[in-house]
Amino acid sequence: MPTLLVLLVLSSVFNVIDPSSAAEDFGIDEKAVSYSGFQVWSVTIRSNAEREILRTIIDQYDVEVWKEPKTDKVTTTELLVVPQVQKELKVKLTQAGISYVIKINDLQAAIDNGNAKHNMSSLNTKAGHSMDWTSYHRLSDIYGYLSYLASTYPNRVELINIGTSYEKRPLYVVRIFNCSSPVVKPAIWIDGGIHAREWISPALATYIIRQLVEVPANAALLRNVDWYIMPVMNPDGYEYTHVSNRLWRKTRSVTSSTSCRGVDPNRNFGYKWGGLGTSTNPCSDVYKGTKAFSEPETLATSNFIKGKASSIKLYLTLHSYGQAALIPWGYDVVYPSDYSDMLALAKSAVSKFTKYRYSVGNAAALYYPAAGGSDDWAKSIGIKYSYTFELSDTGAYGFLLPASNILPVCQDFFPALDVFAAKVATLKV
Ligand code: ARG
Ligand code: ZN
Repeated sequence: MPTLLVLLVLSSVFNVIDPSSAAEDFGIDEKAVSYSGFQVWSVTIRSNAEREILRTIIDQYDVEVWKEPKTDKVTTTELLVVPQVQKELKVKLTQAGISYVIKINDLQAAIDNGNAKHNMSSLNTKAGHSMDWTSYHRLSDIYGYLSYLASTYPNRVELINIGTSYEKRPLYVVRIFNCSSPVVKPAIWIDGGIHAREWISPALATYIIRQLVEVPANAALLRNVDWYIMPVMNPDGYEYTHVSNRLWRKTRSVTSSTSCRGVDPNRNFGYKWGGLGTSTNPCSDVYKGTKAFSEPETLATSNFIKGKASSIKLYLTLHSYGQAALIPWGYDVVYPSDYSDMLALAKSAVSKFTKYRYSVGNAAALYYPAAGGSDDWAKSIGIKYSYTFELSDTGAYGFLLPASNILPVCQDFFPALDVFAAKVATLKV
């Protein structure tokens, strides 16, 4: 008991000094998870019979699926395979005549190679902040950068604290605007970091913030449009991937008597909550939570967006991986009546990419049906253009996209915002 008390006291002290360090006391009893010997396999399915066999094997060995096959097509399923079952799985697949490729031979090695070392102190003295886009950064660097921007560019940047995470980290939205024309403008919302392990997502969100705020050549993007950008919607999960488990996906809340923690924030939004592609099992990576918006992160975000629903005309949520622009509905293969408008805009945005090819289509058709997603919810409250972008890559590294890819991905993506901004500028608030 006394230790608990000390921890609680320490935790509140940490919260005051540096909100991002609250992880220390929550994660203190948890050793860092090692993925030594774990592999990622890419399995190619050529028929429904093979699909059935694979399903059985996945269930029997409780294999974690990283990426589901597209429906009704020859396609690939990516699996995280623990060392203990690798031998048996090889036999099973070979017997069934199913081909597979070992994409990542040792996951821990890939994790260790995934992030470049950055020299914080030198960055700090040069720029007044610790951000760059050659490595993935801790939450304190990201939040430090947001504060730096807000105090350096007060007439362009507003830092809005919209609530606190389960572990009491602040939830920040950056509003970027041009104050010389103070009318209410149509706005674009962008969020990153719903899923903790998808590190390229907060990296791109912060890159977009930087481009909009600090690069004068992009001033035109602020002329007729306001921007709301939330780079890390799930800060607890994000920090947890940095200190304990690189492949954590969910929030870090405790909602059950089991030792399993966390809810999938992208199954926790309040539209068709609990439908297809969701789980009632707190240990599942797609656990829907005890009710819609059970998580402080999804609740605060949705409340904020609802409050701005008349001005926000486009909702963009950044995930990885797969290189795809996903269009609602995602809860099932169902198409909104204005789907063709949504499709046309996505295609035109994606046509700006020169380095990476993206597929565009209905979320449930292209990936898998999954209810309670933020994109569906945004669409359901009347935000006409709502998209999930699954960023790079297509599976070579998956969630462990090496830091050397951050700049190429970001630079390729940014011009697509011209297309979105041009469209949104034409919409009445
Ligand atoms: N990879 C994302 C997820 O599983 C895809 C979400 C697409 N949107 C949807 N509403 N299903 O959360
Ligand atoms: Zn995701």
